Amino acid sequence: MQGKICLITGANSGIGKVTALELARRGATVVMVCRNAAKGSAAQSEIRDTSGNTAVDLLLADLSSLASVRELAEAFQKRYSRLDVLINNAGIYLGRYMETNDGFEQTFAVNHLAPFLLTNLLRDLLITSAPARIITVSSEAHRWGRMDFDDLHGKRGYNGMRAYSQSKLANILFTYELARQLAGTGVTANCLHPGGVATNFAKEKAGLFGIIFSLIRPVLRTPEQGAETSIYLATAPEVADITGTYFRDKRPVRSARISYDQTTWQRLWHVSAELVGLPVLTAAE
Ligand SMILES: NC(=O)c1ccc[n+]([C@@H]2O[C@H](COP(=O)([O-])OP(=O)(O)OC[C@H]3O[C@@H](n4cnc5c(N)ncnc54)[C@H](OP(=O)(O)O)[C@@H]3O)[C@@H](O)[C@H]2O)c1
Repeated sequence: MQGKICLITGANSGIGKVTALELARRGATVVMVCRNAAKGSAAQSEIRDTSGNTAVDLLLADLSSLASVRELAEAFQKRYSRLDVLINNAGIYLGRYMETNDGFEQTFAVNHLAPFLLTNLLRDLLITSAPARIITVSSEAHRWGRMDFDDLHGKRGYNGMRAYSQSKLANILFTYELARQLAGTGVTANCLHPGGVATNFAKEKAGLFGIIFSLIRPVLRTPEQGAETSIYLATAPEVADITGTYFRDKRPVRSARISYDQTTWQRLWHVSAELVGLPVLTAAE
């Protein structure tokens, strides 16, 4: 990974931190995106010390804010003139309805709208840096998800699992449409399930799911195991040309049947572009 620049969100904890460390160990320039300055710089120092790689940078951004995502993309492009690997890793589970300053349900905003906006803002840079890779951390929870286009933000009756599953289905729909749009550019877009992993995931504000998750934590994968597929997709030569694919345990697997519906890919793209204030592309673009 020498000479490669990798940007990873949620890099101070869990799967993202292990992924950042491993990419640094392999010689990449790693740009960590974190929302908390103290946690971010502690993880940055730890990764630098453990990997022996000083090219580990930190950018602060709150992914629940569209303005902050825009500032992040701008700050990245001021410092770097290329991007080889973008890993949309940060994600949350919330047991109760919480709204962002932009007026969106927080799970949908952090898990889907933030990676959607960030990827689109960095899209031209990725294309000029090709070959490049975009990796989005989804979840098997997508299999319980459905896109409720009449109530994407769960305002009519919030359910944490429904919101999370929908956001993880959105990660896959987004990846498939992105791969379609990027065909022939040399930029791939893939997504993955990391397994059930004992991280800080669902430790706070996750309600009943958080309690259940904490009880099963001892039997879950370690963050090192959970990061394997992200690292594989970021580095393995054998996946250089694979795009529009969902992975689990470093292998391509079929995602839920509804995730292959191209009308839904485009509908979600259209709605998301409107919500984040990007130009809405026509189906052919
Ligand atoms: N753990 C599992 O079993 C599991 C299973 C399937 C999928 N996943 C997915 O794996 C990904 C990584 O999760 P994890 O298990 O490693 O959880 P984690 O330890 O909680 O890490 C999540 C990361 O996202 C960051 N983050 C959350 N909200 C943010 C915001 N508004 N702005 C910026 N950063 C934010 C967190 O920052 P703070 O430290 O500041 O909170 C943290 O660095 C997520 O997308 C999750 O949905 C996890």
